Amino acid sequence: MFCARKFDVVTKGFRYVLAAVFAAEIAFATFGFGIAWSQPPAAGEGLRVFKSANCMGCHKWSGVGGGGYGGAAANLRGTSLSLEQIELTIRCGRPATGMPHFEADAYSSGGCYGMKQADLPAGQMPPEPDHPLRPEEIRAVAEYVVNDIKGKGDPTFAQCQAFFGTGTRVCDTYAGADAGKAQAASAPSGKASFQHLEVEAAPDANAGKNSPEK
Ligand code: HEC
Repeated sequence: MFCARKFDVVTKGFRYVLAAVFAAEIAFATFGFGIAWSQPPAAGEGLRVFKSANCMGCHKWSGVGGGGYGGAAANLRGTSLSLEQIELTIRCGRPATGMPHFEADAYSSGGCYGMKQADLPAGQMPPEPDHPLRPEEIRAVAEYVVNDIKGKGDPTFAQCQAFFGTGTRVCDTYAGADAGKAQAASAPSGKASFQHLEVEAAPDANAGKNSPEK
């Protein structure tokens, strides 16, 4: 009798500890989820989409746009569109221009400017994207355009490094005069070859020193 009761108590105690551990784990998991949900989209997601959806192929890394595969891509640094309008433009593209629609079935439901594919005159359908984006990716890249590109003026060295990272020389072309002097002084090969590298490594010929936007 005594032994049985003692065993019972021990078992109950053990169950209690287990329950407490479970509760703590659930609380932790919930708390963790809470953090993840409270800041969508994750920082850097918009930049990732801007690269992976090849926005930079037409608008350049800095968003200055210019001539390219899609015709004259808009200068996103100078855009006056709101976040919602930018999101719509990415989702639906822009009819009769080279701006692709990034929503897969953009013109099947009438959700884009009230038009379906059949309503668009020949040649007005925005190009297909390389690969469509999910709604949250469209939102993330639209926010990236608003927060990191729109209204930012001329591209800077710091912005270029934020885009490409610091382990590359593609941003040298944006380095200020002082940085250029320091690098030239430390490079025994001399200034001429340094300038040669600058030109070759320029990620964006349109955004360089001779940019028409400047
Ligand atoms: C194939 C080339 C191409 C790609 C890829 C492309 N765009 Fe465009 N985009 C254009 C062109 C061309 C225009 C200008 C349309 C016009 O003339 O009105 C444009 C216009 C825009 C506009 C409207 C700006 C304004 O002020 O009117 C936004 C915003 C935009 N693009 C964002 C993006 C984003 C974000 C991506 C990547 C998800 C992207 N684009 C990918 C070619 C492209």
